Amino acid sequence: MPNILVTGGAGYIGSHVVRDLAEHGFCPVILDNLSEGHREACPGMTLVEASIADPAALATVFTRHRIEAVMHFSAFAYVGESVTDPAKYYQNNVGATLTLLEAMRQHGVRTFLFSSSCATYGNPVYTPIDEAHPQNPVNPYGRTKLMVEQILEDYRRAYGVRYIALRYFNAAGAHPDGTIGESHRIETHLIPLVLQAIKGTRPSVSLFGTDYDTPDGTCVRDYIHVCDLARAHRAALELLLNGGEPACINLGVEQGHSVREIIALCEEVAGKKAPVIEAERRPGDPPSLVAKAAKAKKVLSFMPDYTDMREIIKTAWQWENKRRY
Ligand SMILES: NC(=O)c1ccc[n+]([C@@H]2O[C@H](COP(=O)([O-])OP(=O)(O)OC[C@H]3O[C@@H](n4cnc5c(N)ncnc54)[C@H](O)[C@@H]3O)[C@@H](O)[C@H]2O)c1
Repeated sequence: MPNILVTGGAGYIGSHVVRDLAEHGFCPVILDNLSEGHREACPGMTLVEASIADPAALATVFTRHRIEAVMHFSAFAYVGESVTDPAKYYQNNVGATLTLLEAMRQHGVRTFLFSSSCATYGNPVYTPIDEAHPQNPVNPYGRTKLMVEQILEDYRRAYGVRYIALRYFNAAGAHPDGTIGESHRIETHLIPLVLQAIKGTRPSVSLFGTDYDTPDGTCVRDYIHVCDLARAHRAALELLLNGGEPACINLGVEQGHSVREIIALCEEVAGKKAPVIEAERRPGDPPSLVAKAAKAKKVLSFMPDYTDMREIIKTAWQWENKRRY
């Protein structure tokens, strides 16, 4: 079984990818410092509790396990915090990624999957957004993701690194068996915020901006189920291991849902109203971010299974009611 190093494998998306890899003939080795992740998210898996910024820990992992590829999820991912504390973001998302890439170089590992983001596009100049759309990120978080994409391209040319950067739109939902799901220290994602407000574990949810140039005045986003993301990662990994070409690929569903639509669907699924507070726009929120996903279909033969937003929210609601971490 090929050993795959999964950095950030105890986090939200990483834990779903780890589960999927283990179920499909791969041997994931998780490296996570648990700054945001959870040991409970990866029961029965090999978990090395260390930072990717620690060259000695990386050397031990690469020496002990015959690593064939690296899937790199570890990063800080709070957009607002990246504005108030950019050093934290450049150090962890860019600086520590360089340390990881250096360890790979020293151990002759060249296959790399990177968690990039639609945040690299910035304010869309057209929609749906394809991979050729200009990349002008509007916050430090998005810039860290773009910088790593650029570093990877330089490393490909100079050192033969074979990478796929997957630019996710909004990850959503939880594993349908209810055992793993989203649990962030500071929750910023709309669906858990609405569901937690409905459940009463937070007093209310804020709706930022009702005067956007969208059908109902609220922001529109493209939500992709976390298990679909996991399948797409496996497809990208298999492509690279079979000699496929490096690429940057969007992962989205090509459907836009407004904030009001999401709130209404959460209320329908939970059977209860959400306490919503209407607030001013947040700086840096584009009105609409919807993916063009043709490249994922063509290059990875990937199509999402979850195309009904209600079904995505049902898995998130089940998680909110069962969560152990
Ligand atoms: N969630 C989304 O909608 C979304 C969208 C686009 C891109 N992404 C990217 O996907 C990746 C995973 O996102 P997530 O939502 O699962 O986040 P998450 O915070 O749940 O997971 C990140 C994990 O990385 C770990 N980590 C952070 N710094 C580390 C370090 N230096 N060494 C070792 N481990 C470290 C954390 O402990 C955590 O377990 C991130 O790179 C994020 O930027 C997420």
